[in-house]
Amino acid sequence: MSAAATEQNTQVRIATIGSVDDGKSTLIGRLLHDSKGIFEDQLSAVSKASRRYGDGSFNLALLTDGLRAEREQGITIDVAYRYFATPKRSFVLADTPGHAQFTRNMVTGASVSDIAIVLVDARHGVVEQTRRHVSIAALLGVSHLILAVNKMDLVAWSETSFDEVVTDVAGILSTLESSVPLHAIPICATDGQNVVERGPEASWYEGPSVLDLLETLDVAPAATVGARLAVQWTLREHGGSDYRGYSGRLEGGVLRVGDAVTVHPKGNTSVVTGLTRAGTPTDIAVPGDAIAIELADDLDVGKFDVIVASGATQPIDTTDIIADVCWLVETELNVGDNLIVRHPSGEANGKVVRIIHRLDLDTLKNSSADKLTLNDIARVEIKLQTPLVVDAYSASRAGGSAIAIDPVTNATVGALMIVGQSEAQDPANMAVVAGANTVAEPQGKVRSLLRGFFTLKINE
Ligand code: GTP
Ligand code: MG
Repeated sequence: MSAAATEQNTQVRIATIGSVDDGKSTLIGRLLHDSKGIFEDQLSAVSKASRRYGDGSFNLALLTDGLRAEREQGITIDVAYRYFATPKRSFVLADTPGHAQFTRNMVTGASVSDIAIVLVDARHGVVEQTRRHVSIAALLGVSHLILAVNKMDLVAWSETSFDEVVTDVAGILSTLESSVPLHAIPICATDGQNVVERGPEASWYEGPSVLDLLETLDVAPAATVGARLAVQWTLREHGGSDYRGYSGRLEGGVLRVGDAVTVHPKGNTSVVTGLTRAGTPTDIAVPGDAIAIELADDLDVGKFDVIVASGATQPIDTTDIIADVCWLVETELNVGDNLIVRHPSGEANGKVVRIIHRLDLDTLKNSSADKLTLNDIARVEIKLQTPLVVDAYSASRAGGSAIAIDPVTNATVGALMIVGQSEAQDPANMAVVAGANTVAEPQGKVRSLLRGFFTLKINE
């Protein structure tokens, strides 16, 4: 395996999610502080900012709440990424905002994460935003959900309060028919009990700390969908050589020199004769590698074509997609609306032909809807004017995610997780789910290692 592969296996991506003020930023600050993941100069900057913006006591949330507007309002707006490492693993933490207005940032953070830590204020228990965030995390296919029941100091470390929250969150996952494993921990983010070290107060709790879990949970995908690369550009050598390399980011599986490949959408086949990573020839590339592929045959391959290992599960070439969507703007989505769908295999104009169902956040059941509004989670069918080469999101996060763009304002309006195509397009019934009474397909079995593509634009 390449160095890149080793690094991927040990780097774990985490997002903190939950409602406003549940303590997400404070928890991350505590993780960084107690695991000695922050530097002296950052510490003194936080002390200074605490004096300026707070009551003077050391405010760990300021470690992640970087923007001035956030400090002044005491909330997280953007997604703040922090890197830290322990001897066992390295981590990328995405601190996402709890406020409903900023669900897009939460989706962005969670879409690239292996583990989501959902924070719940022990005093308030599960609220609508908790249900929304847990639903989205399940939909986005995180490998594990850590439930951190926070502010236990304010409920005198009551085991009953803790149990109530755990039962409620487990209930959300079972209603969604999600198979994401849940791990619950009572914590106090401000004094750090059960965050890095176990604390003395919850004598009834015998499980691991948050960091213990982060260091040990298995986040390797159980299987991969097979190698694929959406071509982003073609490299030609200067000086008359006839070198031609198709470059992009490898997703979904290992690719070797000598492998047979199929180029979508045309369906031409060839064999890999050369692989280059960072300018250096290699015999093997792994998911996450930025590579250039040379082929034995002189095929007409261009930007947005998808080169797929012939033995792998093949993506579908379709003008009709059924997708789960997180609707991210106040402007309503109605049946008949036009959207641009942006995917690694291209950008296509589309029209919403159906809202199959919408997730009701009170009952967590799917109900019918004729329009969508801010923060709705729904399943829609979109007809495209030009085909895209897509995977089901449950098989490949990279090949199955897309963003919806408003053709008039050019704003990102929705995050799409592709489920399949409609029955009419797909007599073989490949991934048809229309009408199924579940929003979260079990994601556990097949997950792409990769998460490169999902790039929601923030703060538009
Ligand atoms: P948003 O980013 O706005 O969604 O909030 P957040 O979830 O990041 O919450 P934040 O970390 O900013 O904490 C909100 C408030 O709760 C702050 O005043 C914290 O000091 C306080 N707080 C966080 N954790 C605890 C805790 O364990 N106990 C107590 N007593 N207070 C806490
Ligand atoms: Mg915050």
